[in-house]
Amino acid sequence: MFLTKLPAPIDIHVHLRDPGDTHKEDFYTGTSAALNGGISAVFDMPNNKTPIFTEESLREKENIAKVKAVCDYGFYFGSTGKNIEEFPKVSERVVGLKLYLDQTTGDYLIRDLASIRDVFIKWPKEKVIVIHAEAENVSLVIKLAKESGNKIHITHVTTKADLERIIEAKKMSLPVTCDVTPHHLFLTDKDAVELKGKGQVKPSLANLTDKTFLWDSLSWVDCFSSDHAPHTEEEKNSPSPPYGIPGLDTMIPLLLTAVKDGSLEMDDLIQKISTNPHKIFNIPVDKDTYTEVDLDENYELKKENLKTKCCWSPYEGWQLHGKVKSVYIRGKKVMEDGRILVEKGFGRNMML
Ligand code: DOR
Ligand code: ZN
Repeated sequence: MFLTKLPAPIDIHVHLRDPGDTHKEDFYTGTSAALNGGISAVFDMPNNKTPIFTEESLREKENIAKVKAVCDYGFYFGSTGKNIEEFPKVSERVVGLKLYLDQTTGDYLIRDLASIRDVFIKWPKEKVIVIHAEAENVSLVIKLAKESGNKIHITHVTTKADLERIIEAKKMSLPVTCDVTPHHLFLTDKDAVELKGKGQVKPSLANLTDKTFLWDSLSWVDCFSSDHAPHTEEEKNSPSPPYGIPGLDTMIPLLLTAVKDGSLEMDDLIQKISTNPHKIFNIPVDKDTYTEVDLDENYELKKENLKTKCCWSPYEGWQLHGKVKSVYIRGKKVMEDGRILVEKGFGRNMML
């Protein structure tokens, strides 16, 4: 068996739900899903039940992860513009700041221009601001980044129009980067109809023209991120399902399948799951951290092979090509053939 090495894959956008919603996921199950999917580090979002808007809530989350995580990790701080005095206390402990300009799980929107400007001014320039922005909000934050010089990263870019806005900014050499998720690359609004509640996600699954444009314009996309957003099957099958699709177990397997069928180059995959995330977040690549994959193994994705606590995937039954075999972190083998080989607490906070 010939194994291919992926250096230190990072998933820069996950929701591990701990604390607050540990019936959906927790730091042990979420980081186990990461390892199962070949990811050696995750960056966790701040939209917990009690959002990570204060130094106190950040410290609580740090303490929980410290005893549960099996892969490495970093945290985002969040803001609606009312906690700017916390920034100097937390900015060195986190990978970046997260802002929500458009609707998603949790009610943490920042919409008024004065608040967004203020946040941009007060957040340290060398640290990235990751933004959920859609449509004209993409243009707005690009304009603000141009004014302020902040590094911004637009996450889960979904539509042709939004990626075009970002390409235009990149052509002007503005400090703007972006990522796309597997669900926006592999699913469309047609799948959303079939999947019912399980296809409800923010940003919504888009149409075939949007999806095709993302694939055709991948050279402008800096990273892949899973936006791993677990909710239970019961919640997703309810009359008002919460938004989100789990993706940690499946992101690299889906992308390897794309490598196998020729729609993605292996070098490009490595750029977007490792090289660029390390650059954008200013983290050195550890040469003893890597994932081994067998590009020749074909298999069907089955629910029983997932490690996420929510235990479902929109890709159940898909035929995949390219299997994650093992993960090494800082020289230690931490996962082999779906088995987690380290104790809870092995994972380290990359910022501390
Ligand atoms: O659909 C989503 N759900 N999109 C996000 O960005 C957040 C997430 C969640 O936290 O459930
Ligand atoms: Zn998200």
